[in-house]
Amino acid sequence: MSCLPLLQVTNLRVVFDLQHGSQKRIIDDVDFVLNKGEILGIVGESGSGKTQTVLALLGIHIQNPGVVKGEIKFQISDSRLEDLSSSHIDKYVSYSKGKITEMYYKNEKRWKKSIDQQYGLHEIRGNRIFIMFQDPKSYLNPFWTIRKHFKKIVPTRSLDGLSHEEVMIEALKKFNLPIDQVPASYPHQLSGGMNQRVMIALGYACKPDVIIADEITTGLDIVNQVVVVKHLKHIQQECNLSIILISHDLGFISKLSDKILVLYNGQGMEFGPADIILDPKQTRKHPYTRELMEIFNESHKQGYISGEPPRRDEIINGCRFHKRCREYFNNPVLNCSKNAPTDFTDLIQAPHQVRCALFQD
Ligand SMILES: Nc1ncnc2c1ncn2[C@@H]1O[C@H](COP(=O)(O)OP(=O)(O)O)[C@@H](O)[C@H]1O
Ligand code: SF4
Ligand SMILES: [Mg+2]
Repeated sequence: MSCLPLLQVTNLRVVFDLQHGSQKRIIDDVDFVLNKGEILGIVGESGSGKTQTVLALLGIHIQNPGVVKGEIKFQISDSRLEDLSSSHIDKYVSYSKGKITEMYYKNEKRWKKSIDQQYGLHEIRGNRIFIMFQDPKSYLNPFWTIRKHFKKIVPTRSLDGLSHEEVMIEALKKFNLPIDQVPASYPHQLSGGMNQRVMIALGYACKPDVIIADEITTGLDIVNQVVVVKHLKHIQQECNLSIILISHDLGFISKLSDKILVLYNGQGMEFGPADIILDPKQTRKHPYTRELMEIFNESHKQGYISGEPPRRDEIINGCRFHKRCREYFNNPVLNCSKNAPTDFTDLIQAPHQVRCALFQD
C-alpha cells in the first residue's frame, strides 16, 4: 500500500481579472493534504472560496478564467504524485510584493492537448476525481435520460467487465431509486432528492478515488440531508475512497469529516484533524473557527458573526479577519490590521495548523 497522500495542495492561488483591469486573489495560500479513505470538510461562510478551491483542483474555471498557481499533487500510482496545476493554467501571472512581474498567455488548444496527453489528465478529471454540485440539475444534462448519463459518464475502466446497464441497475438499487421508473426518466421528471441520489449513484458507479461534494445538502430538507449523509458515508466505507465535503454549515461538516479546512476570504485559516478542531477544550483555535463553532453549538451570544463578510472587490490589509475579530478588538496591540499572520504551515506543528497572530512565536 502506498504511503503517499492522495492529494496534496500547497500554496494554491487563484487570481481573477476584474472588470476594471485589476486583479484579485480569489484564493490565496490554501494548503491541505487528503489521504486515501479520508473525508476532508471544507467550511467557511458564503464567498470564502470553497467552490473556487475545488474548481482550481479540476481546472474548471468556467467564467473569467483565472490564474491557478501553487502545487496540486495527485497520486496517480502507488509511487507517483503528479502535479495537476500545470494542466489547467489558462494564463500565468507571477506576483512579487503585490505586483505582477510576468504574464504569459498560452496557446490554449495545443498546449492543453499536449499536457493532457502527457499526464493523462483527462483520465483524472471526472474519472478519478468526481465532483457533485449543490443543484443536481446544473450537473445533470436536461436532454439526457438517466440511462444515458450512466452510458456517457461511467468510464469503461469502472465497469469491471459488466455492461453500463448492469452497473446502472446496481447503483440505482443501492441508493433506493426505483429501477422501473428512473432509467428512462429525464432529470426534470424526478424530484430534487431523487436527482441528488442519481448524482451520488453516478459518483459511486464511476469508482473515483475522490468525490467532491459541494454544498450538496444545502436546500434539502432534513430528511433528505440525513439520507445523503448516510449514502456518502456508505460509499466512502465500501469503496475506501476519499471525499471532500464542502459546506457553510459546520454542523454538517462535523458529522462526517476526519479533517477540516476552515476558509475565510480565500485563505486557509485553520486545518487539522476534526477531533482537534472541534474539541471545545482546544485553546489553540482560530478566532473565526471559534465563532463558527459557537454558532453551531448555539452558545454564540448573537448567533452570527459581527460585521460584514468582505465585499467581492475588497482588498484587506493585514489579517483578513481583523475587521470582525473579537480577539483583535480586545487586544489591539496585536497590530493585526497591518501585519498579516505569517505562513499557515509554520504556525503550529503539523498536522494542526492555524493562521493567527495569537499563535505566532
Ligand atoms: N466570476 C467571478 N469574478 C470575480 N469574482 C468571483 C467570480 N466567481 C467567484 N468570485 C469570488 O470568488 C470568491 C470565492 O467564491 P466561491 O468560491 O464561490 O465561494 P464559496 O463557494 O465559499 O461560497 C468570492 O469572493 C466571490 O465573490
Ligand atoms: S491575526 Fe489577529 S485579527 Fe487575525 S484572527 Fe488572529 S487575532 Fe484575529
Ligand atoms: Mg460555493
